Amino acid sequence: MDYHDETIEDSSTYYSEEAGQQEDTSGIVGIIYGDVGTNELKCSVTAPLQKGEYVQIPHEEVGMVLGQVDSMERKTDLSDDKALLMSQGEMMDIKEKVLAKISILGYRDERGLLQNPNVPFKAGSPVMRASEDLIINVIGIKHNEKTGAYIGMLMGHDIKIHLDINDMVSKHVSILAKTGGGKSYITGVLVEELLKHDVTVMIIDPHGEYSSVRDPGTSSEFNSAFGVTPRGYPDQIIEFSANTKINKDAKPLRFTMSNLEARDILALTKVKNIRQALPALKKVLEMIKANKPTFSLKDVIRTIEAQEDSNNAQLIQELNYLDEIQIFAERGTKLDELVQKGKMTILNMKGTEPDIAELIVNRVTTSLFEMRKINAIPPMLLVVDEAVNYCPQQGTTACSKIMRTIAAEGRKFGLGMVIITQRAAKIDKNVLSQCGTQIILKITNPLDLKAVISSVEGLTTGTTEEIQQLPLGIAIVCGAGLQVPLFVRVRPRESRHGGETVKIIED
Ligand SMILES: Nc1ncnc2c1ncn2[C@@H]1O[C@H](COP(=O)(O)OP(=O)(O)OP(=O)(O)O)[C@@H](O)[C@H]1O
Ligand SMILES: [Mg+2]
Repeated sequence: MDYHDETIEDSSTYYSEEAGQQEDTSGIVGIIYGDVGTNELKCSVTAPLQKGEYVQIPHEEVGMVLGQVDSMERKTDLSDDKALLMSQGEMMDIKEKVLAKISILGYRDERGLLQNPNVPFKAGSPVMRASEDLIINVIGIKHNEKTGAYIGMLMGHDIKIHLDINDMVSKHVSILAKTGGGKSYITGVLVEELLKHDVTVMIIDPHGEYSSVRDPGTSSEFNSAFGVTPRGYPDQIIEFSANTKINKDAKPLRFTMSNLEARDILALTKVKNIRQALPALKKVLEMIKANKPTFSLKDVIRTIEAQEDSNNAQLIQELNYLDEIQIFAERGTKLDELVQKGKMTILNMKGTEPDIAELIVNRVTTSLFEMRKINAIPPMLLVVDEAVNYCPQQGTTACSKIMRTIAAEGRKFGLGMVIITQRAAKIDKNVLSQCGTQIILKITNPLDLKAVISSVEGLTTGTTEEIQQLPLGIAIVCGAGLQVPLFVRVRPRESRHGGETVKIIED
């Protein structure tokens, strides 16, 4: 029977808006009707219920079974003609009923395995609000505060969701959403949890948004069911930047010239005549290296100038520009200054040219990887915001290779990655596909949606619509030790969020 064709009965026997205001203490939210399956059933709703909510249904053979509201429909007898009359002020008596489609998630058998009943449920059986214990048990939510990062609560329920930190380090994480979707906000939540657990973190921060983790936040949701109180992390943040003129709280980030090849240096300049400049620079570097183990960019410039070759004018000009931004120095920033156990290092790229940022990310992440191989730094997570800048699907950057290497091999050496992007379709698939945990917020671009659906296990094309409609603050979380994708209400930030959307008019 197709329930769309049913006749509408008296609304008093069904859930109506007024009746819905009274909480049903029995926990019953509906009654099974129509043709019933083992994976799916329909229920006539008698108490407030929402799409996505978990329900439990007694099954005569296997006991309580967990289900989830897949879709809901309010059926009414208001025809378009009557609606027109209503718009002209006429009163109408509207009969209505609310129907829901429930998909069955299953139950745990005596061995603890997730099973679905083999025999359909009985029509007329009650559908109840699911108990927290059943939800936790069936969908396998682990409450391990010692190894878990508390990121929020299960949508519609007061159940805290923890992501396994060891799992994140060993299998990487992707955070995917359109611009303004809340990626940086939830990254802040994640970072707070990592710091609370003394996990070492480095974050590539394109806009200097994460320095505010030092300060306590001002969320309106403090003291709510989330149980979050304001807190800053001033003692656990170290900040570096190549541009300390605008990032005044950051320490300067400097590199030595010694490992740099002529080609690497030229890649940072806008020198046009590479054919002429490359051999010239190579020769000069060889000359200097033969005399001095450490040298500065100034030494290189002086040596080229001494040759008095007019062909080198542009090269000198470009090297002077590099020298002005002071990224190279005789003494570079040491890795043990840059990475400290239990602290978060912010590489603040605000005010740093993209090609210089690529060079920085390449050099720093290459050292992280090498140092983790020999256990010279603690196991850690590398968080890459706006990762398209560093590992795009099309074209290469200075760090494409190292990003792929860490994605593929980082797990062996305790170097996890969190990849954050607005454009899932534009990120190197080799990197994205290595992420075992996905945090998905609202995405609307069809290409990005396609990339997400095809790269994440457990997501069906039916989820596409849900991802498009996710409200701000709700995330779909997959992986991280979870058995099914979960809708999570992101917890408020303890610390201040530095990426507030700028309003043109204050309200
Ligand atoms: N869970 C949340 N609760 C409350 N406010 C939120 C939440 N998530 C995001 N916001 C707000 O939404 C706005 C955009 O969030 P955010 O800066 O995290 O977006 P984004 O995805 O990082 O965007 P972009 O791609 O432009 O960097 C911010 O003003 C932030 O305060
Ligand atoms: Mg952001």
